This record gives sequence, C-alpha cells and structure tokens, in this order.
Amino acid sequence: MGQTKRIGILTSGGDCAGLNAAIRAVTHRAIGTYGWEVIGISRATLGLLSRPPEAIPLTLANTYPLLTAGGTILGTTNKGNPFAFPSAEGEFSDRSDEIIQGYHQLGLDAMIGVGGDGSLAILRRLAQQGNLNLVAIPKTIDNDLGSTERSIGFDTAVNIATEALDRLHFTAASHSRVMILEVMGRDAGHIALNAGIAGGADIILIPEIGYTIDGVCQAISQIQAQGRNFAVVVVAEAVCDEGGCQVTQTHAQGQSRLGGIGQYLADAIAQQSQAETRVTVLGHVQRGGIPSPLDRVLATAFGVTAVDLIAEGKYDHMVTWQKRQVVSVPIEDAIAQYRAVDPQDTLVKTALGMGIYLGEQ
Ligand code: F6P
Repeated sequence: MGQTKRIGILTSGGDCAGLNAAIRAVTHRAIGTYGWEVIGISRATLGLLSRPPEAIPLTLANTYPLLTAGGTILGTTNKGNPFAFPSAEGEFSDRSDEIIQGYHQLGLDAMIGVGGDGSLAILRRLAQQGNLNLVAIPKTIDNDLGSTERSIGFDTAVNIATEALDRLHFTAASHSRVMILEVMGRDAGHIALNAGIAGGADIILIPEIGYTIDGVCQAISQIQAQGRNFAVVVVAEAVCDEGGCQVTQTHAQGQSRLGGIGQYLADAIAQQSQAETRVTVLGHVQRGGIPSPLDRVLATAFGVTAVDLIAEGKYDHMVTWQKRQVVSVPIEDAIAQYRAVDPQDTLVKTALGMGIYLGEQ
C-alpha cells in the first residue's frame, strides 16, 4: 500500500460530459485501494490562487452520485493563464508562484489535472517550475489530442450532434428544406465527421478539407435528381468561408469566438440554388448533460490508471487510450501532438464511399 498520500484533482478548460465520472473514479481508487486522502480543487488553478486555497475533501459518499452528472462539481475555467494573469485594470502579471504555493498550502503530494492541450501545457509548466507531482487525464469534446484515440467528452458530444441530425431529417423532409447543423470542434472536424456519418448527413464540411459553394449546391441538386426533396448538412465551426476566412462572432469584452459558418452557408446555398435553408447552431448543448456510457467507461478507466501512476511515482505523464488499452505518455509528448482529421482517414473514406459530399478532394 505504501505511504498515505494526499492528492489533489482539478478540472481545467472547457467543461464536458464525463469530468465528474473521472473525479469519482480517482476518489474511489485513491481512497478504496490506497487509503489516501483526495482534495478537489475548485475552479482549476483559480482555486489554488485563492487564499486560503479553495478546495473540498472528496469522499466515497460525496462522489457517489457523480457517474451520470454532467459538468464538473469542482468548476473550471478556460481563462486566466497564471503566467499572464489579467488584472481588473487590464494589465497582465505572472502569478504562477502563488499557484505553486497554493498546492503546498493544501499539503498535496501529487495532483491530477484533467484538461485539454492548452490547460495541460499550463499545468505542466507550473509543475516544472514548482517541482509539483503532476499526472494528467485528457478531456476535450474536440478529440484533438494526438496521443490518445479518445478524450473524455468527445463521445457524448458526437451522440448529441447525431441526435440533432436524426431530428433534423424529419423536419427537413416535412418542409423540403436544406437543414444545416453547425457543430463545435475548434480547429478539428472530428465531431462533424463522426456525427455526420452516424446521423446520415448528405454533406459534411470540416476544416481539414476545402469545399466550394458550387460543389455543395451540385450535391444538393444530385439528391433532388434522385427524388429526395431535402438535404441535411453538418458543418464544423472552424470551416472557412469561400474566401478562406474563419467565421467568428464577437462577444462581451471584445472576445472573438468561432461561430456563424452555418448561417454563411445557408445564405450562400439559398442564393445559388433557390433551396429553402435553415440553420441550427448546437453550441454548448454538446458539452452538457449526462455522459454517454463510453465516456463513463473512459473516464473511469482514466481515473483509476491516473491514481495508479501516482502510486508508481510516474509523474509528468498523461493517461491515454490506445488500441483499447489505457497506457501513459509523457505530458510533453501528449501536448505536442495535435490531431486534426487526416484526409486519408478511414472515416473520410467511409463518408466518401457513402456518397457524402465532403468537399473538393
Ligand atoms: O474546446 C472545446 C470547445 O467546446 C470548442 O469546441 C469550442 O470552440 C470552445 O470550446 C467554446 O469555448 P467557450 O466555452 O469558451 O465558448
């Protein structure tokens, strides 16, 4: 069993379904198997910046209901890089040492960070600077971390996008419309590609493959020539307009976010083909709600193995899913390998084989 440890866990970056299942698994393994203490750190590194640090003890009892709960009970943030932390006056300062002190104030022997590439890069830098014992668990609905075939949250997001497509088929058919579904994914098209195949889309547009409005309209005409009066399109948020520019929207505080390519396509298709078009932007629905069984399994397997890595003293590693096994890779390698959709990917070939328009190959 070894020496009793006190370990922390935090969730960082955008939330997704399955984070709570990972928190539950870490707690069960650490307490149940090793007899350790587990501390849940609030709001990612912001909890370690607070004085006293914001954290709660995690127990078998208070993590019991977490398997099916969406979001993260610990809270999270995708703002406030500690190395360039914004002040109310709009200035930036390095507050990394305060976070490292927060870790020590909690008396932690090790910490598990659940995050995507951006969060894990920050956590690793903190760990290097402060000699913190860090183990990582990958989560991102975008599924763009290269060293793991799956990240927590992706499967649930694909399920939600697929269900949206399933529903859109019926209303598209009723009104003889071209229905466009805009999905998330940041710079990668994994959600659009997977949901598009699963949800029987006629057209799938992803940032990794260029398209033309002519090509899209021809695909719609072919469907009409085959005797079908409607079409369903799924587009990833980072797909560019025909001029090669990403479509963004400016939110409060001047922040620019991907969004609007669905409406751009709807207008362009309507103008060129006379088809009646409608747009659904799925947005954060993809991140919320009950995790799919696959995300629960993944989160549980990752949580158990992450605790085992601490028991082995194998720090600075991230758990990954490779060929149906949970293994680990150095965090440095994990964050260095970005994974977009490979245009030669099996799923690209599958979509093409089904006659789906994917752009100009
Ligand atoms: O990275 C996850 C993600 O959901 C992206 O797919 C999306 O572009 C982004 O986060 C949205 O971020 P926010 O929650 O800040 O709007």
